Amino acid sequence: MAISPAWLVFCFLFLNHGVVELEASHQVYRDLKLSSSPPEHQPYRTSFHFQPPKNWINDPNGPMIYRGLYHLLYQYNTKGAIWGNIVWAHSTSTDLVNWTPHEPAIYPSQTSDINGCWSGSTTILPWGTPVILYTGIDPQNRQVQNMAVPKNLSDPYLREWVKSPKNPLMAPTAANQINASSFRDPTTAWLGPDGSWRLLVGSKRYSRGVAILYRSKDFFHWVKSQHPLHSAKGTGMWECPDFFPVLINSKLGVDTSTMGTDVKYVLKLSLDDTKHDYYTVGTYNINKDIYIPDKGQVDGDSGLRYDYGKFYASKTFFDSAKNRRILWGWINESSSVNDDIKKGWAGVQAIPRALWLDVSQKQLVQWPIREIEKLRGNEVHLPKQVLKGGLALEVSGVTASQADVEVSFGISELEKAEVLDPSWKNPQVLCSKKGALVDGSLGPFGVLALASKGMQEYTAVFFRIFKGHADKYVVLMCSDQSRSSLNNNNDKTTYGAFLNVDPVRKKVLSLRSLIDHSIVESFGGEGKVCITARVYPTLAIDDKAHLHVFNYGTQNVQITGLSAWSMKKARIY
Ligand SMILES: *[C@@H]1O[C@H](CO)[C@@H](O)[C@H](O)[C@H]1NC(C)=O
Ligand SMILES: *[C@@H]1O[C@H](CO)[C@@H](O)[C@H](O)[C@H]1NC(C)=O
Ligand SMILES: *[C@@H]1O[C@H](CO)[C@@H](O)[C@H](O)[C@H]1NC(C)=O
Repeated sequence: MAISPAWLVFCFLFLNHGVVELEASHQVYRDLKLSSSPPEHQPYRTSFHFQPPKNWINDPNGPMIYRGLYHLLYQYNTKGAIWGNIVWAHSTSTDLVNWTPHEPAIYPSQTSDINGCWSGSTTILPWGTPVILYTGIDPQNRQVQNMAVPKNLSDPYLREWVKSPKNPLMAPTAANQINASSFRDPTTAWLGPDGSWRLLVGSKRYSRGVAILYRSKDFFHWVKSQHPLHSAKGTGMWECPDFFPVLINSKLGVDTSTMGTDVKYVLKLSLDDTKHDYYTVGTYNINKDIYIPDKGQVDGDSGLRYDYGKFYASKTFFDSAKNRRILWGWINESSSVNDDIKKGWAGVQAIPRALWLDVSQKQLVQWPIREIEKLRGNEVHLPKQVLKGGLALEVSGVTASQADVEVSFGISELEKAEVLDPSWKNPQVLCSKKGALVDGSLGPFGVLALASKGMQEYTAVFFRIFKGHADKYVVLMCSDQSRSSLNNNNDKTTYGAFLNVDPVRKKVLSLRSLIDHSIVESFGGEGKVCITARVYPTLAIDDKAHLHVFNYGTQNVQITGLSAWSMKKARIY
């Protein structure tokens, strides 16, 4: 039996009330111990993305900041690498980069959650007390909503949680006609000007996705509103709703209860049918208690997504220490269940991202939290230069399996762009048709991440520019995984999105990719489009991985700047 010395560490942290000592304990991590036979070679474990030592994880739950400490809770299987036996595992951090694990915060212990403790959110009450609302599975396998509060508010780690004896606080009944199998994932609550709290629970009626609205004066007695906050036909079950205000013309975040004329609202839903997180931007009419997406916003799977790759069940929280809103999302595997069991774990959390409303007010912008840059080590910089059509240029001197790369491309001679066929409406399909090896005029250009020496394997993240309708240019961003691995048991779907950047005005297209062994998390157009790829190279692993910048279009492009950093390993025990 291998016992990691990691959890025998004493940890000292400076907090409001001086120095607090975290006790070392064996039993604290009883559920996180490494199994007796972990596979020896683990090329797919990440070095700066959050993941526990073993087993299955999924949705991030109830993220928050409390007394200067960030808390990440998440769905975790205590017993294996596939979904099941779910508890709320719990880790804390001072910087959202390095993490200390604690004992699971919430696990089945009451009638109202005896068959499971599923996703939920934290609300920080006005006097600073955090409250968790989560979905419990009761003895009849009904989905109900429960509450838990910290046992000891003086413990900044909030290690122990006490459940309300009044649970469940919200339950399906014959009268409210809620589908007991489709009633889950309560949001963070917000306080209206009338002094009532409000929250959403995800649901559906037949194939209509529904955000059920509840109100409460005291946080204990919740009354279902006659009408939902919002619903949309044909979208299926809405999981993990998230509803929050975003400032107009500011990158700063605001508390979930903020209202006024200087904010718009975002409603995010996780679509159970397609496993995509989409959102709309709109207005919240507090008098009628309804949300109305702005004109042009699309409700459903063809709407805007936080991420056009593997990214699901996400949740934001307001970081009151740095006045920003931070997004967490689960990166699922793309491997077979057998491969997951063999490696002993499944699931990773994406790098936390700050998010804000774009100046167009039509979409959000996301960027990895600045703190992640602390892990940047050795930097390689390429000066401004022409990247001729048909060429790939190796970026050497960085650990290509564990890197952060930022590159910007200058484009001229736009009139040479390929004409966009009006039938090419679906960017993902277009990216699959026009993968990295299909040459074009302006593009494909971008990076080849996790490339093997002989190019048998690589993950290509790139742009193509098309001439669209009425002389408008259309920018396509793709993440092509088709050659990411010689192992064909993996899902290698190509991802893509249109990037709302006007190359005539901007003249520069930027791309940042966080490469972490089996993840390529990419941000195009300074965070307007994000695509996360989950890949399993067999040759391009560890120091056998290479990084290239490439241009397989016929037209030259310019590299206006490129910086790549080797990334250090985060401390995530
Ligand atoms: C609450 O937590 C504080 C800080 O960790 C600790 O000093 C105190 O003993 C705890 N109180 C109880 C009742 O456990
Ligand atoms: C209730 O939800 C379950 C699980 O998704 C589904 O099978 C059933 O058809 C739903 N019933 C209605 C009336 O929507
Ligand atoms: C997770 O990935 C597996 C394998 O690609 C897929 O079958 C499953 O539908 C995915 N689930 C979610 C929630 O993304």
